[in-house]
Amino acid sequence: MDKLIIQGGARIRGEIRISGSKNSGLPILAATLLASEPMNICNLPHLNDITTMLALLRCMGVGITINEKMCVEVDPTTLTDYEAPYELVKTMRASILVLGPTLAKFGKADVSFPGGCAIGSRPVDIHLRGLEAMGAEIEVDGGYIRARAPNGLKGARFAMDKVSVGATENLLMAAALADGVTILENAAREPEVVDLAECLVAMGAKISGIGSGTIRIEGVKELHGCTYTVMPDRIEIGTYLVAAAATGGSIKLRGTRADILTSVIQKLEEAGAEVEVCENTISLDMKGKRPKAVSLRTAPYPAFPTDMQAQFTAMNAIAEGTGAVTESIFENRLIQVHELNRMGANITLEGNTALITGVEKLKGAPVMASDLRASASLVIAAMVAEGETVVDRIYHIDRGYECIEEKLQQLGVDIRRVPG
Ligand code: EPZ
Repeated sequence: MDKLIIQGGARIRGEIRISGSKNSGLPILAATLLASEPMNICNLPHLNDITTMLALLRCMGVGITINEKMCVEVDPTTLTDYEAPYELVKTMRASILVLGPTLAKFGKADVSFPGGCAIGSRPVDIHLRGLEAMGAEIEVDGGYIRARAPNGLKGARFAMDKVSVGATENLLMAAALADGVTILENAAREPEVVDLAECLVAMGAKISGIGSGTIRIEGVKELHGCTYTVMPDRIEIGTYLVAAAATGGSIKLRGTRADILTSVIQKLEEAGAEVEVCENTISLDMKGKRPKAVSLRTAPYPAFPTDMQAQFTAMNAIAEGTGAVTESIFENRLIQVHELNRMGANITLEGNTALITGVEKLKGAPVMASDLRASASLVIAAMVAEGETVVDRIYHIDRGYECIEEKLQQLGVDIRRVPG
């Protein structure tokens, strides 16, 4: 297993380009299954999860080619198989996103039941109940979700009892080809859901209320192909901004959007950062200062994102003062705390809240990545630590950060990858 070796002490300085969003690229690739013509998806990040989704589409018979502009051309008209097999789903839970579109388009889908993961149990009951409300017959058999709708799906009114990004995406895609009108209530408002909805609209779907808690979808008979450019990755943006703030440095990010990061930027300003937003760039300058600890609570968009919680916990670990970080989305997403304490942090856990009292310096240590964002927090901690940190199991980080060591090297960090 590859490892990252990081020498602490560098102050981030420089400019990088932000990649396309993993979490909107994944549902958008799944949405291509709905089209009756080839689609071109641009600005996809080169990440393991995207490769897994492409492998899944390919194993269903979908034609995949990468064109000269590095856009992925997806031809769903050659689909032959309605199954998402265990081998692929077990490596990536987001494979569940093919359930809605496959069922809506072909009347049947067999998708391996995704299990829990390091950050929580992560059930898919809302996805299944929503599809059932649209007339699907669903049974779980041999570890597979077997969904059938031989006469097509029917529009329905469905209120989600919890805000779920994935369920909103699956139901949005299913409803796009259903017969009649679907109203999704208590829908997720995350920018990735909006990006998917905008792609569906570009394919000919009739959707209103995009970005609100109530989405109305009027099913159409067919969706056509289109070229769609995936939005920038707001969590990658946020992670580099926090890295710059934690190290007292300054950074300029290109290919960004600030409107999807309001809560994150607000917390960075509270920590003492000067943030400047231009059309496609965000700049942050910490002017060499140590950050002030901030308190936050994760919640569905537009509130503070769970995917940025671990990075702020790492920044608080060396900040001035004490911050309380509460995780309200996933039951086990403060796992990075134990590794940060091994690096000399002063963090105590009280239920789903981490109480972090900043220390002057962390100390480099061998640490283990346990999930994607927890790994990012360890890399940030390593940059502000004294001496060398070895981060093991970095396959987690490769799922969500394109070229992380190249980008950090460009920003002046002493980081290298060693094959394990
Ligand atoms: C998406 O996961 C993201 N993944 C996650 O990103 C992100 O942390 C999460 O949304 C929350 O923002 C992708 O987009 C691929 P949810 P998703 O359904 O859709 C519960 C990252 O680091 N729930 O919004 O799986 C669930 O257990 C990651 O990039 C049910 O109870 O998350 C959780 O507590 C990891 N039943 C809450 O809802 C369901 O049927 C929110 O989960 C579905 C969800």
